[in-house]
Amino acid sequence: MATQIESRLFLLTLPILACVFPGSGYARETEKNGAIIKGMFVFGSSLVDNGNNNFLKNSIAKADFLPYGIDFPYGPSGRFTNGKNVIDLLCDQLKLPLVPAFTDPSTKGSKMIHGVNYASGASGILDDTGLLAGNVISLNQQIRNFEEVTFPVLEAQIGFKRELLPKYLFVVGTGGNDYSFNYFLRQSNANVSLEVFTANLTEKLSGQLQKLYRLGCRKFVLMAVNPIGCSPMVKANRPTRNGCIQGLNKAAHLFNAHLKSLVDFSKQQMPGSNLVFVNSYKMIRDIIKNPVSRGFKDTSSACCEVRSLNEGGNGILCKKEGQPCEDRNIHVFFDGLHPTEAVNVQIATKAYNSNLTSEVYPINVKQLSLL
Ligand SMILES: *[C@@H]1O[C@H](CO)[C@@H](O)[C@H](O)[C@H]1NC(C)=O
Ligand SMILES: *[C@@H]1O[C@H](CO)[C@@H](O)[C@H](O)[C@H]1NC(C)=O
Ligand SMILES: *[C@@H]1O[C@H](CO)[C@@H](O)[C@H](O)[C@H]1NC(C)=O
Repeated sequence: MATQIESRLFLLTLPILACVFPGSGYARETEKNGAIIKGMFVFGSSLVDNGNNNFLKNSIAKADFLPYGIDFPYGPSGRFTNGKNVIDLLCDQLKLPLVPAFTDPSTKGSKMIHGVNYASGASGILDDTGLLAGNVISLNQQIRNFEEVTFPVLEAQIGFKRELLPKYLFVVGTGGNDYSFNYFLRQSNANVSLEVFTANLTEKLSGQLQKLYRLGCRKFVLMAVNPIGCSPMVKANRPTRNGCIQGLNKAAHLFNAHLKSLVDFSKQQMPGSNLVFVNSYKMIRDIIKNPVSRGFKDTSSACCEVRSLNEGGNGILCKKEGQPCEDRNIHVFFDGLHPTEAVNVQIATKAYNSNLTSEVYPINVKQLSLL
């Protein structure tokens, strides 16, 4: 028993060391800049889930098997990609250790000092999004988990204080599933216009951000919904001549426009807060439009063997132990929906560094971290 716990501890320390050593210049640099980001709390869907669904009973949205994680230092972890996801890579940019998953029983006490990840694959902003994948954790529940579980524990066990929250980033990456698995699938939405649905969705998200703000959170990063109409999943069912399914991309585009407005609106509603909108939609769309100059070749097929509807799958997840493509760096999509690590690298690097307001608005994550 003791050795089991020890080896678990050991495994957990590894990513932390890996992240801290290359950043030995970190303390100096941040002192000079007068700001230190202590960690990251993460909310959202499979694009940012790092293993929470592994521990859920009755969830089919799991990525805890090969070839997921084939390029990740610790193998399959529940991340829905071949290597690191965009959150891991943002942590690298910020010289932070990897963030532990909330539902992992070993995530407790001082392990949470650099933040916690609550994200759950197949979940959405609406409570009923993702029900078709079995058990998922909705955004509302994720925020309650932060407020009612993690925060009191941090306060009680390691003397964490509300005043420290402005030193943490609150990253939210969600919304795509509310369209793919809710709006476009449900008969009950048949008479609801995209505009009305989207306005309703962003209003709910706004309320969820305000809840975090009232708890003391001040720095927010909002990830766009990706071009879901270009994913192998939807193109497999409805072959298009060369492009993507416009209806789904239009929905994502509209949501992102609302999200960008929410950044301006929230800054007024939440005095002292700062928000960054990361337009991963544009970044991925740019890669698909002009792959070669960015090192990509395959913009439309999944890198892994996907389990199709005929095979009892959903057209999204890889087959267990199926063959992945050889050169993962030239593929945009790893499975039927999720980007490869190579794409995540581009998103995280631009999120952190870009000076284009079409990519990061109104400032980049580096600038946010120094405020
Ligand atoms: C949509 O509206 C039409 C016409 O008003 C109505 O007949 C139909 O029952 C509505 N469908 C749903 C799902 O609400
Ligand atoms: C908007 O949200 C409210 C509150 O959840 C709900 O009652 C209403 O039906 C929603 N409207 C649309 C058009 O989705
Ligand atoms: C953005 O501007 C800053 C300051 O001028 C510069 O250091 C940085 O390299 C720029 N980022 C990119 C991606 O060009």
